[in-house]
Amino acid sequence: MDKISLNYKNGNIKIDEINKYDQRVKDIHKKMHNKESEGNEYIGWLDYPENYNRAEIERIKKAAAKITADTEVMIVIGIGGSYLGAKAVIDALGHSFCDMLEEAGKKYPHILFAGNNLSSTYLCQLLEAIEGKDISLNVISKSGTTTEPAVAFRLLKDYMYEKYGEKAKERIYVTTDGEHGNLRTLALKEGYELFTVPCDIGGRYSVLTPVGLLPIAVGGANLDKLLEGAKDSMEKYNNDDLNENDCYKYAVIRNILYDRDKQVEFLITYEPSLKSFSEWFMQLFGESEGKGGKGLIPMALSYTTDLHSMGQLIQDGTRSMFETTINIETPRRDISIKNQDDDLDDLNYLTGKSIDYINKKAMEGVIKAHVDGGVPNLMINVPKVNSYYMGGLIYFFEKACAMSGYILGVNPFNQPGVETYKKNMFELLGK
Ligand code: PA5
Repeated sequence: MDKISLNYKNGNIKIDEINKYDQRVKDIHKKMHNKESEGNEYIGWLDYPENYNRAEIERIKKAAAKITADTEVMIVIGIGGSYLGAKAVIDALGHSFCDMLEEAGKKYPHILFAGNNLSSTYLCQLLEAIEGKDISLNVISKSGTTTEPAVAFRLLKDYMYEKYGEKAKERIYVTTDGEHGNLRTLALKEGYELFTVPCDIGGRYSVLTPVGLLPIAVGGANLDKLLEGAKDSMEKYNNDDLNENDCYKYAVIRNILYDRDKQVEFLITYEPSLKSFSEWFMQLFGESEGKGGKGLIPMALSYTTDLHSMGQLIQDGTRSMFETTINIETPRRDISIKNQDDDLDDLNYLTGKSIDYINKKAMEGVIKAHVDGGVPNLMINVPKVNSYYMGGLIYFFEKACAMSGYILGVNPFNQPGVETYKKNMFELLGK
């Protein structure tokens, strides 16, 4: 297979149950594409892979080339949707042990993240870690007012001016709203290079915009391929026929399982490099669906690692979860087990077998065990982890999330609940 696809044979779902949603999906699809659905002011991601600003993407590529040439460490400052997507793609495409883009064999500057927490220890250690290194900053905030990135930016901006004087301005890149916000005002005043977060795209749907694209380009990824993958998904899933649209089918099945009292969806990966992608997934679905007392809890596990910590619970504990496994069909690398004469570790039965073969057999064994234990399993097949399929997979989940949220009866593009902690914090800080 050479496309992203859904397999729900282990989901304990009958096709008739799915088909009951046929008309509802058609109605939502029509409203979404006519930009008449609730929250449509944030639906710009829907056709962005076709409508993106070409000139801005070229500017991003140029900025990334400059950063690659003059920077040892790039710090991406942002929180939530302003960093999770970029980290997901950079980690997925990168090398586990060095700063190298696997698909191109290219080295890139070390990329660190800040502004996604308020830990004093983290920030002090970050300042220590970058001592003596050539730095660039990409500060990303759509609103331009979020406390965590604003605090980190203030500290790191001071550091940059102390180190580079006025030349610091050539090393600070700002990604923010095209019209409003403190960050935009600051960037214009100081003359930092500015990139725009499209006003009709919310944070968690923004990875394929300049929000994600500048850090991802610094990470060496092929932006054209990433956007091409997203565009191909966009065309493929612009189809209101539920039977032909895996993205909508996944959205429907999540809702069927939710109606059967499943409370948690675990996204399962068997590649450690996809851990950050899982975090992006959790934000996408958590912030989009968790409102009005509703919503599946999106969680993630990295197997086989987490089978040795959470496996017991999944197999045998509360039956309130289902699993969605991302199956990477072909790994980027593989290596085989060699025969050893003494066979003291009893592993000669695996002679000639590749590690990926063993990983896949583990996956098959896990799915069978968990299904037998009453945990429905869905599978999303992805041919390979590369720029093209990452673009396609991101779009798959974004559209599935929008459809799933609408089926659930919520606006998938707002996050009113996030304001409550901020209000308390500001009161306590005397703002
Ligand atoms: O998805 C969202 O909208 C949020 O997670 C935001 O991305 C996050 O709160 C950061 O907001 P901002 O980019 O305005 O700093």
